[in-house]
Amino acid sequence: MGALIWHVCVIAALSSLSRAAPVSNSFDVVVGSPVFAPLGPKTTLPCWLNPSESAEAMDIRWFRQTHFDTPVLLYHAKAFDETTQDSSYTGRVSFGLKDAESGGLKTGDVSLELATVTLQDSGNYTCYVSSDRIYDSSSISLIVTKTGTSPLLSAVWKEDKVNVSCESEGWHPEPSLHWSDAQQALTSKNTKYSTDSSGVVSVHSWILVSSSSQVSCSIVLSGAEAKEARMRLEKPPAAESGSSVGGWVVSALLLAVIAVGVGWFCFKKKGKKARSEGDNAEETDRLLQIGVIQPTNHSTASKNYVNVTLDDVDPQILTFKKGKFRDAPGIASAGQKVTCLTATKGTPCFSSGRHYWEVSLGKETVGIKQSWWVGVTSLTKIPRDISPTAANGFWFLSSSPDIAESFQFNHAPNVLLPVNTQLQTIGVYLDYDNGELSFYDVTNKTLIGTLRTKFTKEVFPFFNPGLGDAAPMEILQREEAGENSSMQNSTPLSNDGS
Ligand SMILES: *[C@@H]1O[C@H](CO)[C@@H](O)[C@H](O)[C@H]1NC(C)=O
Repeated sequence: MGALIWHVCVIAALSSLSRAAPVSNSFDVVVGSPVFAPLGPKTTLPCWLNPSESAEAMDIRWFRQTHFDTPVLLYHAKAFDETTQDSSYTGRVSFGLKDAESGGLKTGDVSLELATVTLQDSGNYTCYVSSDRIYDSSSISLIVTKTGTSPLLSAVWKEDKVNVSCESEGWHPEPSLHWSDAQQALTSKNTKYSTDSSGVVSVHSWILVSSSSQVSCSIVLSGAEAKEARMRLEKPPAAESGSSVGGWVVSALLLAVIAVGVGWFCFKKKGKKARSEGDNAEETDRLLQIGVIQPTNHSTASKNYVNVTLDDVDPQILTFKKGKFRDAPGIASAGQKVTCLTATKGTPCFSSGRHYWEVSLGKETVGIKQSWWVGVTSLTKIPRDISPTAANGFWFLSSSPDIAESFQFNHAPNVLLPVNTQLQTIGVYLDYDNGELSFYDVTNKTLIGTLRTKFTKEVFPFFNPGLGDAAPMEILQREEAGENSSMQNSTPLSNDGS
C-alpha cells in the first residue's frame, strides 16, 4: 500500500513539472541600470526574476513604450512566437545572459539580447513576465551610442585674441563639449548642436582666448567615450599680428581617445567641398576656412602610396647612403638655425590626385630625429637663402629640438601641435584637388595635423634633414605601391603594407 501511494505522488510531481506551473506564488521582475551600447554589435538588456525561479514555462514579452501587442520578443508555450513581433526586430532578438554566471531561463534570467544595434533601437524596453497565476514587469532604457569624429580645432587671430573653433560630427546621443586651457576649464556660450534626420549629432563651438595659450577641446559621451584635441597658441610675430583677417586655419590633432573602440572611424566625406572655386586663387598662402571637412584618416590616406625618391643631392651639403640622408659633416655648427640650405625635393611631382608617402625619422635603437621638415614645395629648384613660407611655395610640418614635444607648420608658426610620442615614421598625404596636406604618426596610425590651402602649381615632395642631427632621414619605398607608383625601382621594405 505504501508503495502505491508513493507511486501516485511521483506521477503527480512529474505532471506538474511537465506543465511547469510556477513553484512560487510571487516574483518580481527586476532590470539592470540603463544600458549604453555602441552602434553595431549586439547588446544585452538585463532582466530577471527575483527570487530566482525557472522562467522556461512562463510567457515572456519584451516590448517598447505602449506597443504591447507588437512586441520586440514574445516567448510563449516554450517557444518564440513571431506572429505579432515588430518586424524591425525579426531575426535580431533572443535571450541573453545578464552576466557570465547566469544560468539563463532556467534560473529566471529573461534578458533580451539584441543584435546589430541601430540608432532607432534607443529607448525604453519593458520586460514583462507572466505565469498562469501572476505577472510583473519592469522597464529599462537602452542608449545607443556612436562616437563621432576627432574634434577639429581651428584658430583665427583677432587682434590680441584668438578665435578657436572646435567641431566634430557623427555622435549619438548628444555629447557634451568641454573647453580648457592649461590651467582650468573654460566656458563657451557658443556651442551649437545639430541633428540630422537619422539622429546623428554634430557639434560646433568657438571661444575667444588670449593669443598665447594652450587650448583643449574635448567631446564626451555619457557612457564614457571621449575624444580630445589640443593645440598651443603663441603670439604671432609683431609684423604679422592683426594683418590677415581671414588668417589661416590649422586642423587639430587627435591627442587622446578614451574610447572602448579603435581610435579612428572611417568617414567618407568626399564630394562635400567647402570651397568656392575661383576666389583668391592667387593667394596660395591663404588657407581656406574649413567648414566641416574632416581630415582624411590614415587608413584611407595610406591607400594612395607612392614611391618617392630624392633628387640628386649636393654631396657638399647632404650625404646620401643606402637611401638614408642627413647633412654633410661640417656644413653647420651646432645650434645653427635650420634653413633651406639643407632642404631638398623629391620626385615625382603632383598636379592632381591623391598621394601618400612615408618618411622614416630613425629608430629607437639608433636615435630619432629631432630636427626635420617634411612636406611639399612648388619650387623646382630651392634657393639656399629663400624664406620657407607658403607665399614662397612651401608647406611643411617641422620639428626642432628647441621646441619640446610639439611640431609646427611653416604656415602657422604660432600654433604648436603637441605630441606625446616620439615620431619614428611620418606619413604625408596630399590631396591636391581638395587642397589637403595631412601628416600622420605612422606607428600609431594617428593624425598629427592637417593644413589646407589651394595648390595652383605642381608640387614636389619636400624634405629637410636639419642640421647636426645624427639620425638620418629615409623615404620609405613599398613594393606594392599602387597605381600612383612612379617608374623607379622600389626597394622592398618591411613597412606594414596593411
Ligand atoms: C569665431 O568663429 C566662429 C566660426 O568658427 C564664428 O561663427 C564666430 O562669429 C567667431 N567669433 C568672433 C568673435 O569672431
